[in-house]
Amino acid sequence: MSFSLSHIFSKEVRSVIGVDIGSSSIKVVQLRRERGRAILETYGAIALGPYTGVEVGRATQLPADKISEALKEVIKEANVTTVDAGIAIPYASSLVSVVRLPASLEDRLAQTMPLEARKYIPVPINEVQLDWILVGGGKESGNVQDKLEVMLVAIHNDTIAKYRQIALDSALSASFFEIEVFSAVRASLDHGIAPVAVVDFGAATTKFYVVERGIVRESHIINQGSQELTLNASRALNITVAQAEERKRKMGLDRASAPAGVIPGSATMTASDAEHSFELSLAPILSEISRTQASFEARMGESISTIVFTGGGSTLKGFREFSQSKLQAEVRLADPFGKTEAPAFLEGILKEAGPEFSVAVGLALRRLQELG
Ligand SMILES: Nc1ncnc2c1ncn2[C@@H]1O[C@H](COP(=O)(O)OP(=O)(O)OP(=O)(O)O)[C@@H](O)[C@H]1O
Ligand SMILES: [Mg+2]
Repeated sequence: MSFSLSHIFSKEVRSVIGVDIGSSSIKVVQLRRERGRAILETYGAIALGPYTGVEVGRATQLPADKISEALKEVIKEANVTTVDAGIAIPYASSLVSVVRLPASLEDRLAQTMPLEARKYIPVPINEVQLDWILVGGGKESGNVQDKLEVMLVAIHNDTIAKYRQIALDSALSASFFEIEVFSAVRASLDHGIAPVAVVDFGAATTKFYVVERGIVRESHIINQGSQELTLNASRALNITVAQAEERKRKMGLDRASAPAGVIPGSATMTASDAEHSFELSLAPILSEISRTQASFEARMGESISTIVFTGGGSTLKGFREFSQSKLQAEVRLADPFGKTEAPAFLEGILKEAGPEFSVAVGLALRRLQELG
């Protein structure tokens, strides 16, 4: 009996779902494997603001039951048909540090890291789940240095318990929880050796990851995100937050698509006032990205040639061109759906929406890899 069951399962087409619970919205992507390709079956997003009485696009901090409510809703709206899930843990709920150790400790990391972690983690070690990965130096790197660089990752037990509860309440079977760094990078990059940065421009925060030889070497969080553009524009131009958000999504920085003259709903604001405000809000975020890039380059003696943006914030019209004019690297937008197969007529839409779904695509791709 058990033989025939496993036989059936191995032949069955398995669909998987990636679930990205961001501060402003939940994103889901369902994939299945067919002849070695990842087929896009469905995807969807739901804003979390309305679950706590704030505007769409704004960051929230919701309890597990509200998140499950929204997740069930988006699963229904997007016609998700699988329960086999990979779920992201927000970078901000984890502690990631790069620990430098003598090369002689390489074979003893299992004993060393829990002790070493005490220096980096401000809570008792038994309250966190620890994980680590060698990111620099070491025998196999071909670059034997006297120091190892080990990325240490800690997630609080309460955080994991919260995400388990969300999965349970949403009737999902979570096969893994992954810090969003790794999902975003998997979906945004092709294989390459030179260091590149992946920058996730979310609603509340902007995450900066340095990736070299496919490995995340460094990460840094900037406590400002795309909601700043909306909130500042609302204040500066005396329009509601909802109006500012609509303005941002419809027109962005694209002067050509903005209608001339006064914006409806505001007495005197013109299209170019709104763009100017968005540019003013982007400036400090882009300078912080520049500073982070420069500090990595100075430390490592290597330059970052490319910055790949992901996150809903980077879907702002005109964003790529504007950030290109401010940053010292080639700026690209992530195209996570490019790693999947979808009907040709969706190509344009998927390219445009892609950056918002990087984390969810990355999770689903990992689950497909696991199923083999
Ligand atoms: N078409 C668009 N043009 C401009 N901005 C947009 C567009 N669509 C979404 N955004 C903005 O992107 C942000 C949401 O991005 P994303 O979904 O990546 O964030 P999140 O994952 O919820 O947040 P975080 O990663 O910070 O937790 C919102 O602030 C929203 O206003
Ligand atoms: Mg996000």
